[in-house]
Amino acid sequence: MKNVLSCIQPTGDLHLGNYFGAVQNWVRLQDEYNCTYGVVDYHSMTMPYNAAQLRENTWKMVFYLLACGIKPENVFVQSLVPEHVELSWILGCTTSYGELTRMTQFKDKTDQLRETDKDSFVSLGLFAYPVLQAADILIYHADYVPVGKDQEQHLELSRNIAQRFNHQFGKDYFIHPEPLFTETPKILSPADPNRKMSKSLGEKHYINLFGEEDRVRKQIKSAVTDTGDTPAGEMSAGVQNLFELLRACGHTDAYNSLMADYTAGELKYSALKEEVANAVTGLVNPFREKLAALQADKKAVKEQIQASSAEIRKRAQKTLKEVREITGLGSLR
Ligand code: TRP
Repeated sequence: MKNVLSCIQPTGDLHLGNYFGAVQNWVRLQDEYNCTYGVVDYHSMTMPYNAAQLRENTWKMVFYLLACGIKPENVFVQSLVPEHVELSWILGCTTSYGELTRMTQFKDKTDQLRETDKDSFVSLGLFAYPVLQAADILIYHADYVPVGKDQEQHLELSRNIAQRFNHQFGKDYFIHPEPLFTETPKILSPADPNRKMSKSLGEKHYINLFGEEDRVRKQIKSAVTDTGDTPAGEMSAGVQNLFELLRACGHTDAYNSLMADYTAGELKYSALKEEVANAVTGLVNPFREKLAALQADKKAVKEQIQASSAEIRKRAQKTLKEVREITGLGSLR
């Protein structure tokens, strides 16, 4: 069975965009591949953060993934596998300064930091982030990495690092990981359909995957349908987004009949919103219940994930043992 690896930063909440864009696909891949999914807390140290909050968010994300149907044995917490950092150092020595300066996400994040504070601190960690990501991938000899298009450049870097390492040490050791881009719906902010659904924009810009039914319904009811900048004869971004949600939730019949209404010029936004609210709450309600069930015994779940992380760590340790041998480290011979 081929290996699949992907990781997510512990950001605090999981929203519909994250679910349809990534997690739903991760759940499905478990049937076909040997999957490993990391909650990457080392990565979250690259931007300003709070220690207590990081620890809390890391466990929160673990619970969210499990509630969505990720199998516990496939999940690890990155800092429980410190070998990632050791490999990252070693790979950093086969990565050039120049190629890291070309990473667009590094530029975006530095801009973002400078926007909040012009004297802000840009850490070596933020610069080296893509090397740690390469280590996450290569340490498990991943064949496929399901990611969004925004991670394409980082994936290419991982392949270049693998190739250079193999060349430098004259061994075909690391395999070249391939991205797995799947067609995923693009979910927009209900409050501003010109932007992607996102946590960083603020609370009204995302629908929580574990949200209370009342709030979710209200958010959909008040979703922006007309932004005033839609060319005549085109469907506005807000209405498109509502249709997209309906389809993503698998309510195809409602989608088709409402689309027919739209084409006939008879669509009532209130009817569309009602259907979307039913579809979304139909998805979200069971997730919320599953989460509550898991949270009823937090200790048991945490112990389970500590154990799965320890199992996954054995694979990482095996890789490091081989890499140390190849690179001339730790040997008293
Ligand atoms: N950089 C990814 C993101 O921001 C998260 C990530 C870290 C990742 N390590 C990874 C994704 C390894 C895939 C594989 O979304």
